[in-house]
Amino acid sequence: MPTEVEVVLAAIKERRSIRAYEERPLDEETVAAIIEAGIHAPTAMGLQPWQFIVVRDRALMKQISDYCKPVLRGMLEGATDEMAVVFRDLLSREDFEIFYGASALVLVLGDEKNPYSTYDCTLCAGTMMLAAHAMGIGSCWIGSAGPVVGNSELMKRLEVPPGYAIIAPLIFGYPGERPEMPVRAEPKVTWI
Ligand SMILES: Cc1cc2nc3c(=O)[nH]c(=O)nc-3n(C[C@H](O)[C@H](O)[C@H](O)COP(=O)(O)O)c2cc1C
Repeated sequence: MPTEVEVVLAAIKERRSIRAYEERPLDEETVAAIIEAGIHAPTAMGLQPWQFIVVRDRALMKQISDYCKPVLRGMLEGATDEMAVVFRDLLSREDFEIFYGASALVLVLGDEKNPYSTYDCTLCAGTMMLAAHAMGIGSCWIGSAGPVVGNSELMKRLEVPPGYAIIAPLIFGYPGERPEMPVRAEPKVTWI
């Protein structure tokens, strides 16, 4: 039997960003359990400056992807580094969706009045992705969804309340792949 420490460390080290999903939808209880885990993340002064929007409407997710793709392509115009070039090519493909066919998109929203909400919501997002992994659910942070803020029609449909900003767009679903761990560079640590 692995110890509790071994189980926790294995979850941390084995979580991967998942970019292929099964068609099988996630039920509401599962998404609620992931959010419930996320709210246990630490927050500055314990203020918990977040709200969540769960999108399970695949047609809306496709519309967001269709809007973001050309915007992202424009942002990557002239890029030369390898990752950017690969991603720009992907964005040109009709069949590529920035949400990789995941069954749910969860937006972690931060209170714009709170100066720490970006940190707090990011910790919440990390906790949600770890919890999902522990539950056998795949996840990925989709920074590529960021341009959606420039589309007022889509923002209206997402029901982002006034005074809140999208900090973490996260996708969840049953994993359709088991990726290798991307190389981790040796950390540069200064010991004093
Ligand atoms: C802020 C942020 C934005 C990201 N945006 C994207 C994205 O738009 N699309 C994507 O496929 N992965 C995205 N990722 C996932 C990273 O590419 C991934 O975490 C990294 O390659 C390490 O892989 P791992 O999560 O499997 O350890 C993002 C991650 C973070 C933290």
